Amino acid sequence: MLQSNSKIKSYALETYGCQMNVADSELVDGILKDIGLKKTEDLNNADAIFVNTCAIRENAEKKIHSRLGNFYKLKQEKPHLIIGVLGCMAQNLKNDLLKNKPYVDIILGPDSYRNLPKLMNRHMMEKNSIVDTKLSRYEVYEDLFPKRNEGINAWVSIMRGCDKFCSFCIVPFTRGRERSRSVESIVTEVRKAVDQGFVEITLLGQNVNSYKHENNSFAELLLAVSDINGVERIRYTSPHPQDINVELLEVMASRKNICNYVHFPMQSGSNDILKRMNRTYTKEHFHYMADKIREIMPNCGLSTDIIVGFPGETDKDFEETLDLMNKIKFNSAFTFKYSPRPYTKAEQFTDQVDESIKKKRLDELITLQKEHTLELNSKKIDSIEHVLIEKESKKSSNHWAGRTDSNEWVIFEKKSSNIKDIVPVEIVNATGVILHGKEMVGA
Ligand code: 5AD
Ligand code: SF4
Repeated sequence: MLQSNSKIKSYALETYGCQMNVADSELVDGILKDIGLKKTEDLNNADAIFVNTCAIRENAEKKIHSRLGNFYKLKQEKPHLIIGVLGCMAQNLKNDLLKNKPYVDIILGPDSYRNLPKLMNRHMMEKNSIVDTKLSRYEVYEDLFPKRNEGINAWVSIMRGCDKFCSFCIVPFTRGRERSRSVESIVTEVRKAVDQGFVEITLLGQNVNSYKHENNSFAELLLAVSDINGVERIRYTSPHPQDINVELLEVMASRKNICNYVHFPMQSGSNDILKRMNRTYTKEHFHYMADKIREIMPNCGLSTDIIVGFPGETDKDFEETLDLMNKIKFNSAFTFKYSPRPYTKAEQFTDQVDESIKKKRLDELITLQKEHTLELNSKKIDSIEHVLIEKESKKSSNHWAGRTDSNEWVIFEKKSSNIKDIVPVEIVNATGVILHGKEMVGA
């Protein structure tokens, strides 16, 4: 509870970055609701503004610096306003924030959310900036229930941290060591989400499939979640290729409610670069596993992450990335220019690539991916996909938008079905990343 004379009655919370942050923000919402605070979307009405931050690339941080400038203006009008920076950037930039943005009252790392009410009280008493960025080897927020915001998909965090240390990535430094929650606590949380009306469960972790609790593997956890009545669809993100194995793929293929979709982050198609990235696989193995995924789960949706302009990446290395993309043909890709991050090994490399070359390579890669997405989506025309209706189409109130099992968005005209229904839809057209279809009534 906050101290009795506290002026803090309401708060706003902005979230940036990955789904893990979305899930963490739901935990924070749960903690703040428990102490009686009301959430508001209107910053002008908030007595406290928190921003849950991302440090993965420099751009993500820039956006947050600019938001903090806006919050500072509000604080000048309302001196009791508490400004809090939560998550990865708090971990990464605490000294910089303390020095250059003294109006930030609370700096809270990703393992310290339960301390938020205590720190708010301390700030109100001591009137200075309060920092808690201690990383934990154990914190998995097992006993805290998130306050979920929407009614289709529930994010369920199953493990935290990362021990892989890819040489470009700040995550092992901002989120600390890997640790997993017990199967029982995850199953309890999923049951609760189903009781609240959620039909899709997305299991989350920085390295989701290196999940290990006592003797339970990720594949075993998937089976346990799949057995829960009312779980229509299960997805997970983000895996590391090293932990995708045949056992896991066979478990996925064996259950109807585990989605036919794998995010399979390639990062590069050059063995030299993969080695310098410390990715622990070769392009040959990656290609073999991509084929294996599609062999065990025909029509599986396959997405990836690719970085261009990693230090030392030559034209030839980049050509190899395009070549591997051409061989595998991902359904979709998240593409990034390499961004040097503090603490990481790659930041120390002296052969950084010029920004103009990064941009050129990124454009080329995006163009190629668009071709692949369109080609694979066009192949779906005339097929029947099972679509979970998620919302009204942004462009037309006569249309629904939903996702296929393999994670493509489909737009189709409304008939008698409703949000949360899974309906058969005949695909009639593909435009870029979107499929258009016709609901099969009575099918
Ligand atoms: N620069 C660019 N992209 C990065 N990613 C992680 N770190 C960096 C970085 N320093 C990308 C990777 C990862 C995704 C979540 O973000 O592709 O898979
Ligand atoms: Fe970062 Fe690599 Fe860990 Fe993913 S596996 S969070 S890219 S260090």
